[in-house]
Amino acid sequence: MQNMKDIGVAVIGAGFIGPVHVEALRRVGVTLVGILGVDEAESTRAAAALGLPRAYRNLDEALRDPQAQAIHITTPNRFHFALSRQALRAGKHVICEKPLAMNTRETAELVKLARASRQVFAVNYNVRFYPAVLQLRRMAARGDLGEIIHVNGSYFQDWLFKDTDYNWRLLPGEGGRLRAVADIGTHWMDTVSFILGARITDVFADLATWHQTRKRPLGEVKTFARASRAVRYAPYRVRTEDFAHVLLRFGNGARGSMAVSQVAAGRKNCIRLEIYGSKKSAWWRSEEPETLWFGNRDGANEVAVRGTPAFGPEVAPFLDYPAGHVEGFPDTFKMLFRAVYQTIRAGGKGERLFASAADGHQEVAVCEAILKSHRARAWKKVALL
Ligand SMILES: NC(=O)c1ccc[n+]([C@@H]2O[C@H](COP(=O)([O-])OP(=O)(O)OC[C@H]3O[C@@H](n4cnc5c(N)ncnc54)[C@H](O)[C@@H]3O)[C@@H](O)[C@H]2O)c1
Repeated sequence: MQNMKDIGVAVIGAGFIGPVHVEALRRVGVTLVGILGVDEAESTRAAAALGLPRAYRNLDEALRDPQAQAIHITTPNRFHFALSRQALRAGKHVICEKPLAMNTRETAELVKLARASRQVFAVNYNVRFYPAVLQLRRMAARGDLGEIIHVNGSYFQDWLFKDTDYNWRLLPGEGGRLRAVADIGTHWMDTVSFILGARITDVFADLATWHQTRKRPLGEVKTFARASRAVRYAPYRVRTEDFAHVLLRFGNGARGSMAVSQVAAGRKNCIRLEIYGSKKSAWWRSEEPETLWFGNRDGANEVAVRGTPAFGPEVAPFLDYPAGHVEGFPDTFKMLFRAVYQTIRAGGKGERLFASAADGHQEVAVCEAILKSHRARAWKKVALL
């Protein structure tokens, strides 16, 4: 079996999340061989800042690098499809950021290509790799919660709260026709489907845009950046949703409701889920990732802390630090990538907990059903592969 350090990895995209990938990959122990930005200048800047050996001048150079066996795609959504397709065709393993692509025509093609290839393909739904989420999945599979009655939750942020907050995600041509739902809602839906082991089959959605018109700062703006000095703005009409409420039906009969918002003041990056079973309930929130709460009708409610016996032994391989030493957002990337590279080392064998191209396709299919439902003001079925 290949050693981790013998696997060469290249990263495409050098904005907010590209460097998060680089850091996590270093912790996994693979060898980073280079980075590609939007142009040569960005590649050079990023390689120097991150201490990477190569700054690729263009995509061709990255895909022809024999040292790069795997490619991480961390560009805006618009480029995911073409980059994934080219990387697969070049014989690379692919780890693509979410959402997998702009529509199901693109995602279905990637599913076909990934299945036909010998390479590993993963979509970076990292929330799956919080130990609490993995623990909930085990508990749901074992029947500890009983039959799942309903699931409720939200994913709230405030970084697009002001009409002057700007990012490429606001533009349908860059991020897709859905914004809050596709950007953060798909994390919530993927996580809940992963825990329940059941796909979303039907949706009823209400999408809303608080800022009908926003002001675009003239010049480039980085994700999560805040304007620090006087800037000039150009107004533009917003065509994607700031927040949404969606009713869901799952393949196992469970019902659900999800709220998403990017204009929820004070909520920085909060994913919250509550699962109500016929035996007990379970609650979790990413802003307090170490703790699982369980609700009982009779007897006291319970609190379980990561790293203690209250978390089962099955999640032990996904903890690197003892209880009280908080593992959070960056650790989920490390655990996901470690799982991907262990699968690569095992020649594709073994259980795959990370999201596949088919899982990535499913989330985009749910997004399309959500948009149809909102427009028709009716329940819509999710088109399954
Ligand atoms: N899993 C997560 O938790 C998570 C978090 C944030 C972002 N993301 C996803 O990561 C992706 C990037 O988001 P971001 O917030 O880092 O955006 P960003 O705008 O901060 O960074 C994007 C980077 O890609 C570069 N780029 C653009 N086009 C390129 C091209 N054709 N070739 C090479 N580089 C190119 C940009 O110059 C920039 O460096 C999105 O798909 C987003 O949904 C995932």
